[in-house]
Order: sequence, then C-alpha cells, then structure tokens
Amino acid sequence: MGTTPTRWISTPLLLSLCLCFILFSASLAEDTPVGYGYTISTINNYPINNTLTANLSLIKPSFVFGPDIPHLSLAASFENKDRLRVRITDSNHQRWEIPQQVIPRDSSSQHNPLSFLNSQQGPQHSLSLTHPESDLIFTLHNTTPFGFRVSRKSSNGVLFNAAPNPSNPQTFLVFKDQYLQLSSSLPAQGASLYGLGEHTKRSFKLQPNETLTLWNADVASANVDVNLYGSHPFYLDVRSPSPDGRVKAGTTHGVLLLNSNGMDIVYAGDRITYKVIGGVFDLYFFAGSSPELVLEQYTELIGRPASMPYWSFGFHQCRWGYKNVTDLQGVVTNYAKAGIPLEVMWTDIDYMDSYKDFTFDPINFPLDKIRSFVDTLHQNGQKYVLILDPGISINETDATHVRGLRADIYIKRNGTNYEGQVWPGPVYYTDFLNPRSQAFWGGEIKLFRDLLPFDGLWLDMNELSNFITSTPIPSSSLDSPPYKINNGGDLQQINYRTVPATSLHFGNITEYNVHSLYGLLEAKATNKALVNITGKRPFILSRSTFVSSGKYTAHWTGDNAATWNDLAYSIPSILNFGLFGIPMVGADICGFLGNTTEELCRRWIQLGAFYPFARDHSEIHSIRQELYIWDSVAASARKVLGLRYRLLPYFYTLMYEAHTKGTPIARPLFFSFPEDVTTYEINSQFLLGKGVLVSPVLQSGATTVDAYFPKGKWFDLFNVSNSVNTESGKHVTLDAPSDHINAHVGEGNILALQGEAMTTEAARNTAFELVVVISCSGNSYGQVYLDDGEALDIAGVKDQWTLVNFYGSLQNNSIFVTSKVTDGRFALDKRWIIDKVTVLGMPKQRMDLARKKLNIVKGTKSIRKAIVKTQFDSSDQFAIVKVSNLSQLIGEEFKLEIEIR
Ligand code: NOJ
Repeated sequence: MGTTPTRWISTPLLLSLCLCFILFSASLAEDTPVGYGYTISTINNYPINNTLTANLSLIKPSFVFGPDIPHLSLAASFENKDRLRVRITDSNHQRWEIPQQVIPRDSSSQHNPLSFLNSQQGPQHSLSLTHPESDLIFTLHNTTPFGFRVSRKSSNGVLFNAAPNPSNPQTFLVFKDQYLQLSSSLPAQGASLYGLGEHTKRSFKLQPNETLTLWNADVASANVDVNLYGSHPFYLDVRSPSPDGRVKAGTTHGVLLLNSNGMDIVYAGDRITYKVIGGVFDLYFFAGSSPELVLEQYTELIGRPASMPYWSFGFHQCRWGYKNVTDLQGVVTNYAKAGIPLEVMWTDIDYMDSYKDFTFDPINFPLDKIRSFVDTLHQNGQKYVLILDPGISINETDATHVRGLRADIYIKRNGTNYEGQVWPGPVYYTDFLNPRSQAFWGGEIKLFRDLLPFDGLWLDMNELSNFITSTPIPSSSLDSPPYKINNGGDLQQINYRTVPATSLHFGNITEYNVHSLYGLLEAKATNKALVNITGKRPFILSRSTFVSSGKYTAHWTGDNAATWNDLAYSIPSILNFGLFGIPMVGADICGFLGNTTEELCRRWIQLGAFYPFARDHSEIHSIRQELYIWDSVAASARKVLGLRYRLLPYFYTLMYEAHTKGTPIARPLFFSFPEDVTTYEINSQFLLGKGVLVSPVLQSGATTVDAYFPKGKWFDLFNVSNSVNTESGKHVTLDAPSDHINAHVGEGNILALQGEAMTTEAARNTAFELVVVISCSGNSYGQVYLDDGEALDIAGVKDQWTLVNFYGSLQNNSIFVTSKVTDGRFALDKRWIIDKVTVLGMPKQRMDLARKKLNIVKGTKSIRKAIVKTQFDSSDQFAIVKVSNLSQLIGEEFKLEIEIR
C-alpha cells in the first residue's frame, strides 16, 4: 500500500516549536487581564450616617490570581471636615480588617450632620459627596468600569483619580480573595510624593518607576529599595503650582491605605497602583492643605506620637559585643574622661544567659555586678537600656518559657506551638493578639525589672525574624499566595525567614493577615507593661513598626552599614518616620555593619547629634567606634553634642509638639517653606522644628557643603556672627572643615537654649538663653514646654508643667521680646531663669550702636545689672544685640524693650 510519505519534523525544530508555543501561551497568560473592573449596580441616594454607599458588580471574571469577588460594597464618608474615608469590600463575606483594638481609630465625628450628597447628572454621569466645611469632594463615576475621584473644591485639583482608563486593564479595580488592585492617576507633573515605607531610599521624594513592597522583614537597612522592618502605607502628596494658578505651591494632602496585608505599591510618576494580597481597601484622604496639617490630621486618626522622657534626648552608646560589665564600665569611664556627654548606656543580647530573654549571663554579666553598675549610672544621672527579643527559648529549665507554656500564649501552627530559630536556638513566639499575653509579657518584664531597675527597653527582631524558613503547607494558598509581592527585592516567598503565613494567632487569625502588625503589638504590650510598673513615661525602641507604632515607641533605622552612602540615606529614612508619626527616630551613628573610619564616624556624629534619637551602635564583628576612640571624633563630638545639649529644651518642646499635634521633630524643608518648590527635591538637609536647618557633610574628603537656604536670614548656631541672607532661596557653598557641621537658625524663630553639660539632668540646671531672630516683615515666635521630663501626662496635672510662648518684633525704634506663660507655677518653683537674650538679624542701618538702651517694661527687676552689648556680624549686614545678666524667671511673663535709636 502506497503511503503518502510522512514529513518528519526534526527534533530541534519540534523543540523550538514547543518553546514558541510555551512562550506564546505564557505571553497570553501575561496579557490576560487580572480583572475587568466593576460597574455600579445600586447607589444609596439617601445617605445613612452621611455615607454614600454603592453596590458594585463584576463586569466579567478573570481567573488570574484566583476568582474575582462578584459583589462589592463601596462606602465614602467624611469622618470630619478634613478626613474622607473610602472603603471597598466584599458585600457578602466579612474579610480581614485591622481591628479597633489593634489600632483604635478616632471616629468621633463620623456622624457629622453636615455632609450631603450632590447629584450631578453630567456627561460623566457622576455623583458627588461633599461637606460644607471641607475642601474635599468625593465623586463616583457611573461609567463602565466604574471609577471614583477625590478632588479639591478650592482649586478643582484632582488628588486621587481611580477612574479607570478603559484601554488599560492595569487601571481597573480588581478584588479577589488574595489579590486586590486599585490604581489612581496622578498629575504627570507637579505631584511630589513622600512616604510609603519602610525602605532605605537614595532620595526622599519618591522617584517614578519603582515598586515599593510592604511586608515586614528582617532585612538590613543597608539594602536600598527593598522592604524592611516596618510597613507604612501612607504618603504625602505635595503639589507644585498649576499653570492656571489655582493650585498653590505646597498644597498638600495625605493618603493612607489602612491594610496590614503584604503589598506592592507601584509608583509610575503619573500613576500609583496598589497590589495587595488580602484585606480590604480602606482609604483615608487627609485634606491638609499644608504638610503640617496633614500630619495633624493623620495622627488624629492613628494616634499621636508617644511622649518621650527628657533623658532620651541625651546621647546613647550601644554595641553588640560588649564583653562583660567591666567592659561597660570602661566605656562609661572613657566617655567621662574624654569630656563627651553620655546619657544612656545600652546592652545588646550579650548580657543574656545563652541569649534567653529575661536572664543574665552568670559569668560576664552577673546580676549583682550589673545592678551595681546600673546603680552607679543612676547616681551619676545616667540611664540604662536593655534589649529584648520576642522569641522565647524552648528550654524546660527556663522559667519564662515554662510560664509561657502554662499561659498558652504562643503562636501556633498545625495545632501546636510554632517553633522558630533565633539567637537562643529553638524558640516559640509570644502571640500578642492573645489577651492573656499582656499578663504574661507584663509579668516577665515586671519580674525582670524587680531584679534590675533599667530605664528603657529595646525591642529587636520583631518582624518577626526567624533564622529558618518553614516549608509551605501545600493545601493552603496562604504560604504561597498566587500573586508574589516583591519580598526582599527578588520575589522571595513571604515565609522567607519569618513565621509562616499559615501560623495562627488567637481567634484563628492567620499570620498572613497580621504579620506586619507584630512589632506594633509587641511595642504596645511593652508600653502598657512599663506604664503599669513604673507609672512613668516609658522609653521603648522598636525595630519593627506599623501605622500607629509612634504612639508607643521610638524607632531606629536598623542595620545600616558604615559607609558614606548609608550616612546620606539616613536623612530620607529619618524624615520618612516623621511622616509615619514616629518622630523619635535615629540611625546607628558611625554605622552598624562593617568597620567605620575616623572620618566617617566624625561626620556621622556631626549629623547624628541632630537626629531626634542619637545613638552610636555597632555590630560584634566590627571595630569599636565609641566617640572617644579617635581624638578628632572626640573633639567633634564635644562640639556638636555641646550644641545638642544646649538645644535640649528645643528638642523636648518639639517632642511636646509632636505629641500634641503630630508634627515631626526632624522635618523636610518644605514643611516650613511649602511655597518653595526647590525644597521638594532636597535629600541632604533637614529642619529641626520650624527653624533649625542642618546641612551636613555626606562625602569623604569634603570640606565644603552645597547647602540650600530658603528665603530669609539664617544664622550659624555655632557662631552667630556668620549669616546667610537670601531673598528667594539660594544654594550656598559653606565651609565645613573637618570638625564642623553647618546648623543655622532662620528668620522669625526664637529658640530657648540652655547650657552645655555632661547629662541632661545637669543641663536642666543651667540658665536659659533666648536666641531671637528678628524678622523685618513680621513677628518672631518660639515656644518652650517644661515639665519634670518623665510624668505620664503631658500638660496634664496642674502645676506640673509650664508652657511659655515667646514673641519678638521690631517696632519703630525698638526691639521687643515678650513672653506669654501658661501655668507658670511649675517653672517658677524650679526657679529657672533666662539670663541672656541674643537678638539676631537687625539690619545694620537700623541700628545705632551708641544709642541702644534696655527697658524692662514688665518682668525682672534686675535691669540695673543687665549688660547690653552690640556688634556687627561678619557680613557687616546685621547687628547682634546681646543682653546678659538678666535673671528673668522663665515662669514669669516679661516684656523687654531694646531701644535702638
Ligand atoms: C539586630 C539588630 O538590628 C542589631 O541592632 C542588634 O545589634 C543585633 N540584632 C543583635 O542583637
């Protein structure tokens, strides 16, 4: 039988055809949209509780990353005039949301009777929700797919535009069990975004085309652009002026996605897209419209930053690898010998017995020796802080572990306690969601503190860190979710070196949902325990953080490296934590990983002296880097810490401001100069409060620094006769010899300073000096908050605190400096005095050196002893007027007049 000859395909050809097919199908799968969006099925036109609600229906299913949820509910509400909430969730099934017990949200004004619906049947067929007192408008677009938008009444500016582009499925709303996507377009030009952490960034302002992953991880902060220890899905959006002039420069709003699940946030410059692996969309828009107001509004929702003890603004020394108590003693002695202030001595895991929490190494850190060491510190006005890790060693002979087992408070998996590995070897982890864990953890801290009166606790490894990666449970999609967030920068599985996602917390809550809340929960429990034990303001430093952690803890930026880049990147990191409501933050001074150098350490203490939290810390394998090791570092440390200690009342008052209003201590320049668009790009300078500008050297070998000065007169805080004067903002090359950092105080500010000292306690016994930078165009202002430095309540109990506002002005031929005192009793009892007032910024031509005369209109009677001296500054533009020998009680209101002609 004749046969048609078969045409055999060669093997290589077959292989390449197969490959083509595979590639083709893969690209098909890639092109298959993750979702097709939703339409509005019904809208509630008669809002209940002033909420606009809508039911959404899936347009068409897609099975990429799992099936879509067919029916969603959207609710938009003005919780107050400055806060708009938009929540989208499954209509038929309850989903994971952060419980109120974990993050209590202020919703006092939720039922504001003033919001109303305004139906517009325009071409867009849209419906808007507004509030008569708010600048925000929420608009729902009844399009296919549906979309929504948040805009401003005052400028028509669009803040968030989740109206999908029908030709781009990437912009559609997608809602599946383990994949949620929401996208907003942003103005192509003119929106500067900050926040979305925790990451080490080269620049403070977010740069287009980056994916910001949020999933708490024990990844050293020496790594740039990867998810680190904390998650903060909050950003600030600062707008540049619009061409039509309606949007003013610096108009700012904030956006929070309150969601604890892992996520990638893709920032494309003209678009922001959230890709989240669980929970719901719970968005909050904060109207601003200044950066300060956004922070005030954000922290009103999540909780204001904790008050910090006065001493915590002193200088801290730490190291992993202190060998024994004698070693610690040596460090304290060497600081004293070198004349460098040391406020707090720290001990890392070295003090523990086999790295077990709540134990002391009997050989190197025996309790009796360490107690007498701490007693001596206390006698000298110094403090002591210890580390704690969350993993409890599984050791039958360990009393803590036994109590933990008995209380049954550990995280579970597969029906038993989940076993991880950290420093002590096998560990169980306390489940801080278990209501019994507070008694357990608090009890352990109490027993420990009864043994040793430490002053603060350092919470490390709480991401949760685990030295092993457990095998996923194949029957669950939690350990290996369909969408892989970019964990670790290389799509590592979410279980990588942490507690696996299938582990269970109290109430069968999965680790998958609460993973990134662990550090927050631990800090909260520790804070509560310390308040119960001491009745005083606690000091806690936590590595892992989440939204609202600032209410309980300070933060350090984790394991940086001793490199010049790490020195520079510490500025964006610190500024970000200010935005996240955790203003008490610092980076390891001189660098943690690797060996520092004399020059780097010198430049680092110069910068670190201006971190809100100033601690030198290094790892066990690196060389010692205490500030006395090198003479040049020691000399610089004396100089810069000298200024820091003089500024202590200023730092402390900024802490008070942060605690009462949420404003960061270290701030980007645009907080004080929002109208100056140049400030939006600055990464290498920052402000302390409103008016102290820090311009550090960040490069090896540099002896000058290119600093930007926003408009106004600026005076060198190390030598007030050096000034910079700029009409509209300018770059200036400043001298920065090896021992010097530039720090300037700006026009319009009044600083209350005290004297240098070796401890904060001693500094508090020195007289105050007011530095008044006169403004020719308005009043100068400053404030000082005074209390005992450790009372639980800030400005709480009567006669236990004093607040003084200072004003300075130039009127006709006189300079006036006055004060307004609230609750002066406390300061009067302390007999704190102002002995010096220095007035800067008086234009030379307005000053007749020969004819100055001092009148005390109100206040001190010691006028006859007062001395007034005047000189011109080095630029010969300004006069410096120094009034000394004053003895003016700070708790007493005064009015001082200096006649200048
Ligand atoms: C990791 C922390 O980030 C670091 O600061 C500490 O020294 C080590 N753990 C050892 O406890």
